[in-house]
Amino acid sequence: MVLSTRTSKTCDYLVIGSGIAGLQTALLAADHGTVRILTKKALNQSNTWFAQGGIAVALGSDDNPEMHLSDTLSAAAGLANPEYARMLVEMGPHSVETIMKYGVRFDSTDGKHERGLEAAHSVARVLHSGGAATGIEIQSALGTAVTKTDIGIEENVQMVDLLIENGRCVGVSAIADNLPHIIEYRAEHIVLATGGSGALYSRTTNPQIATGDGVAASIRAGAVVSGLEFFQFHPTALDLSGDRARLISEALRGAGAKIVDNQGHRFLLDEDPNGELAPRDVVARLIHRKLEETGASSVCLDATDIQGGTVSTEFPSIWTDIKNSGFDMDTDLIPIAPAAHYSIGGVLTDDYGRSTIPGLYVCGEAANTGVHGANRLASNSLLEGMVFAHRVVEATTSNIPYEINSFPVATIEVVCQENHMNRASLQQLMWEEVGIVRHKDGLKRAIEKLYGAPSNVDFGSSAIENAGLIIIGMFAARAAYDRKESRGAHYRLDHPGLDPNLAYPLNYKIDYPFSLTMKYE
Ligand code: SIN
Repeated sequence: MVLSTRTSKTCDYLVIGSGIAGLQTALLAADHGTVRILTKKALNQSNTWFAQGGIAVALGSDDNPEMHLSDTLSAAAGLANPEYARMLVEMGPHSVETIMKYGVRFDSTDGKHERGLEAAHSVARVLHSGGAATGIEIQSALGTAVTKTDIGIEENVQMVDLLIENGRCVGVSAIADNLPHIIEYRAEHIVLATGGSGALYSRTTNPQIATGDGVAASIRAGAVVSGLEFFQFHPTALDLSGDRARLISEALRGAGAKIVDNQGHRFLLDEDPNGELAPRDVVARLIHRKLEETGASSVCLDATDIQGGTVSTEFPSIWTDIKNSGFDMDTDLIPIAPAAHYSIGGVLTDDYGRSTIPGLYVCGEAANTGVHGANRLASNSLLEGMVFAHRVVEATTSNIPYEINSFPVATIEVVCQENHMNRASLQQLMWEEVGIVRHKDGLKRAIEKLYGAPSNVDFGSSAIENAGLIIIGMFAARAAYDRKESRGAHYRLDHPGLDPNLAYPLNYKIDYPFSLTMKYE
């Protein structure tokens, strides 16, 4: 059956996604016009909910934005936009005040925010809630704040494509509650806050809803994307085969937890004097190498002796989560292995979240603003979501000159076809060939397998998600193939060194934009 298009709903701001970036944008935009949020599940279901460590922000007397900037740029391995990164860290304190006004509470002692230490930070600067339940606090507080306003909230609405008219984004098409028609939503300003694509990988700390829908729709519409070769793998996720990889926050290592091999040896120290607090990409790769060498499926996190107390008192949400999987973190060694965690790449934007398509703004994990470069500093992601929400709304209310990275844009030929792989095969392919360690042969295999992009899919949310994941996977494999060096989160066995001549972002766009069509029986 051919699907018809129904009601065109209009507003001033259309925000897609309900994590920190979407909710914060909606709350700020509500002062300037009518706002509608579309979210594909319930309002509180987002990747933000799962964030543990917290928000990195320079607030302590031993800290300042300059130090935070220096740590951010070191982690970024020569690829961050320094001006944008400066803006990010300088706006951190103000953005924290804003979310606190909307009800977010951070752990405090004697009226002062507690500050956690995480890898590659020169001082403890990570604000947290409930130990490491920061995402739940932010999601709940901002979600509640939104329900107290006139902001329209439409749950269980899955975006399909961007509506482009005369080169401008004027809205999105969507499906809702399995109604057998497409709905068009139109607005003056379209803001994608649809998150990353952690569901690309078979082992991921992200929920399966992290399918990069906004990035995929932007690729199909012809927007420029950037940084897709950089996917961050978190070193410490509970290793239970067949289960979602449960994140165990880096904050535990900041509090003194150790990583040991199955002989009890702290092997990270053999390679990096910073040991457990070496940058996240280094720790993930060293664990990966140990697993390859030994054939084991996990190494161990020893959190039985952390500063400040026990895991059950300092990080109760993690302790309970892991206890529910059969381990007592206060007494047991916990089997851990790396898992996909964060999409550094995304839709290319300027420092106000403006994409290369007029009218289309992107913020949070869906965007590549350039602040993370080749490797994101721990706990800079909630910060980015919140800060860029301010920037997006500011851009919609003023006449700020547009300035986006002007590096060359390569065009990727995409052949539309009907048959394509299922999600499990895609996830396995990405894990094996476009994972923690890459090689040209594996990347070539991935590119060949991902060559045909689905354009005509079955009706329904998961078919739309899978079509999107495939096109993002294809662009990521191509970018990883083209970056013939190792830098930050991208490691090539066949090019293990950093090439100073490649210290620039790789930008891509599709050769011919297209929209999905859906079959409805
Ligand atoms: C963590 O708590 O280890 C994750 C923090 C992050 O991804 O920034």
